[in-house]
Amino acid sequence: MIRDVLRMGDPRLFARSHEVERADSPEIAALLVDMLDTMRAQNGAGLAAPQIGAGLRVVVFGAERNPRYPDAEPVPYTEIINPVITPLGDAMEDGWEGCLSVPGLRGVVPRHARIHYRGLDPQGRVIDRIAEGFHARVVQHECDHLDGILYPMRVRDFTRFGFTEELFPGVDVADE
Ligand code: NI
Repeated sequence: MIRDVLRMGDPRLFARSHEVERADSPEIAALLVDMLDTMRAQNGAGLAAPQIGAGLRVVVFGAERNPRYPDAEPVPYTEIINPVITPLGDAMEDGWEGCLSVPGLRGVVPRHARIHYRGLDPQGRVIDRIAEGFHARVVQHECDHLDGILYPMRVRDFTRFGFTEELFPGVDVADE
């Protein structure tokens, strides 16, 4: 079922989400169906459970060719429970981000260029990956939601934060 996405200002987006005790439960399976429906309906590259009001450490992400990120390399569709990120190296990269909870805006955010991440899939199996580039960016953005962090809280240069229509005039960027 497509659910409403909470918008920045809602206190539930600033809370720390709770660890899931059992990944392969019917409740988590049902939550994941709603998250996927909601993400697809909005053309999002990712969604975290707190964005639909569920304070659990669950994220989904993935992009084959996302109209909102036309230059981004594909990211495998992934459902991950209790994800944990470890940065690999000190390198940071700037890149544009948007968020379904911050509609109509974009900003440049520094992220770790290369990460290791680990968690469980909905069958309780371990997901253990190394990621870089857009894939690493999406994982960091979604996992930030689990700690109550929205991307504008990481923007450093506010000349590169604003309304999509003003930042990219004439470019047909899908709505968020
Ligand atoms: Ni987001």
